[in-house]
Amino acid sequence: MAHVSDLIGSDIERYLKQHETKSFLRFITCGSVDDGKSTLIGRLLYESKMLFEDQLAALEADSKKVGTRGGEMDYALLLDGLAAEREQGITIDVAYRFFSTERRKFIVADTPGHEQYTRNMITGASTADLAIILIDARKGMLQQTRRHSYLISLIGIHNVVLAINKMDLVDYSRERFDEISRDYREFADKIGLSHVTVIPVSGVNGDNMVEKSAKTPWYDGPALMHHLETVEIDEARLQRQPFRFPVQWVNRPNLDFRGFAGTIASGVVRVGDRIRVQPSGRESTVARIVTADGDLDEAVAEQSVTLTLADEVDVSRGDLVSAADSPAQTADQFDATIVWMNDEPMLRGRSYLMKIGARTVTATVLPLKYKVNVNTLEHVPGETLTLNEIGVAELELDRPIAFDPYEENRETGSFILIDRMSNNTVGAGMLRFALRRSSNIHWQTLEVDKRARRVLNGHQSGVVWLTGISGAGKSTIANLLEKRLHAMGKRTYLLDGDNVRHGLNKDLGFTAEDRVENIRRVAEVAKLMTDAGTIVITAFISPFRAERAMARDLVEAGEFIEVFVDAPLDVAEQRDPKGLYKKARRGELKNFTGIDSPYESPEHPEIHVDTTKVSAEAAVEAIFDKLHTMGFLDVHRGAPL
Ligand code: ADX
Repeated sequence: MAHVSDLIGSDIERYLKQHETKSFLRFITCGSVDDGKSTLIGRLLYESKMLFEDQLAALEADSKKVGTRGGEMDYALLLDGLAAEREQGITIDVAYRFFSTERRKFIVADTPGHEQYTRNMITGASTADLAIILIDARKGMLQQTRRHSYLISLIGIHNVVLAINKMDLVDYSRERFDEISRDYREFADKIGLSHVTVIPVSGVNGDNMVEKSAKTPWYDGPALMHHLETVEIDEARLQRQPFRFPVQWVNRPNLDFRGFAGTIASGVVRVGDRIRVQPSGRESTVARIVTADGDLDEAVAEQSVTLTLADEVDVSRGDLVSAADSPAQTADQFDATIVWMNDEPMLRGRSYLMKIGARTVTATVLPLKYKVNVNTLEHVPGETLTLNEIGVAELELDRPIAFDPYEENRETGSFILIDRMSNNTVGAGMLRFALRRSSNIHWQTLEVDKRARRVLNGHQSGVVWLTGISGAGKSTIANLLEKRLHAMGKRTYLLDGDNVRHGLNKDLGFTAEDRVENIRRVAEVAKLMTDAGTIVITAFISPFRAERAMARDLVEAGEFIEVFVDAPLDVAEQRDPKGLYKKARRGELKNFTGIDSPYESPEHPEIHVDTTKVSAEAAVEAIFDKLHTMGFLDVHRGAPL
């Protein structure tokens, strides 16, 4: 029988079935490899005597070969071996390790890389009942300990074990143990962690891991394994919450069957239950609960099932199916706690992809309300969040989503933020509440629409977005282009960096945040003007890929032409039409693009103009060709209007 293995996803269910009668504890471990995390988990796995014979033999052999413990068992190797196996496969977010004892079965959510750590704490591990925080007895409490503890309290894990590890290296000193316990309990009180058990251990020697150690006669608490086996947990927590089912995919093998597949996030569902599909709000009744092993009458949180409904209601991937009598809320603006996990800071005004349940939407970060100093727990004002910082900000989405405040439901209230360019997870967070204004403002669908205005103008509308460093030639090209279009009787408008910054954006400077906001506003204006039926030409440095992508996404496909006006820095600097490069070189102008502020070249612009090779006239000609082929200048585009 397999007890120790790396299992993911649906394997959890199989495992749970095997051990149905025993109670079951999920936990996470916080601490770094240096604190002895791998050794501690390895030891628990080993001591639960649930390793395969061959795994044991391999561990012994490896300990002799590569172990750092002079041939003695090196339990950390056990995890390293499993981790290496895992790395060969596809990337997975959280690896779950399973083990069991006579009394209980366990799942420990293991978090591979350091960067993934916070994310997994908030999302993958948000179902944990208990957290083990590891401290190196020699080092005591670190900033990281406070941060992890604060996160644990935010996440809502009530049971905490403080494992003061490496007691052998402080001679099993009671004083040291007492000192660290005192420090920790004082901090834990402040952040509302009420169930804290402090245990002196040595992962390497096994002290107080499974058996009470003779080396710590002064310690009268339980050994770690005993505590994990007996600590009281609320096993029915997820099931008591209202029914929530994020739809992972729509299963329609033939015309007779239409099912909605996913994993139940919380609650219980029975055949005949009234449900609501969110955010659309349509209601129906559960007709069948289908699984690979046949139909069920009832299914509970964490089970993967396919639901069919009594009516032909429209349900798509990413929708949330909820109990009709206690549905989730829907909104598109939120107050949220955000934990930042990226080397590059969070930028106000930048839009990120937000993944919540099975749904991905676009979220724009509005100004930060405050950030939290995890040492003093003070709220401090701030513009942005940098790596590992925690703060509260408002988020604005491109469309409404169904959600629950995190406090009420961990599964439907937590999200991650993804960078659109790199696809990396850059933040994770918890929705606190919806902003009231989000339900009060609706986009007015006006009777005179874009189509009607285009018909009147006699041509299509859209955005010609010029990007490039200062002195590359954007304004020159933009001017020529507009003159030519105007002469042809096309309705145009030129938005130029220097001009817009005198009016609409005169409150903005040249920090990364201000540039993001500058471009966000310009992109919104360009969108309105496109709607107004105008051909908009923009000439902004617009140095960041993310904002250019955002500008593109704001309008419809085929309405955006990105023109990279390219000149090498030394050429632009020689031209220096406004004398700004010289100033920047003298240090009189900070954050100057190309000097001490970055420019991210477009990867796939519709047009790439090398201004060292072609004239402004030739560039305009190229843009013109594109406008023609994309149908900007036609009365009709594609199907007749
Ligand atoms: S953007 O980066 O936010 O897109 P934008 O195109 O609006 O910049 O403004 C760039 C213009 O502002 C430049 O053409 C230049 O005349 C002026 N400028 C003043 N300070 C700076 C600076 N630090 N970096 C770049 N341009 C600056």
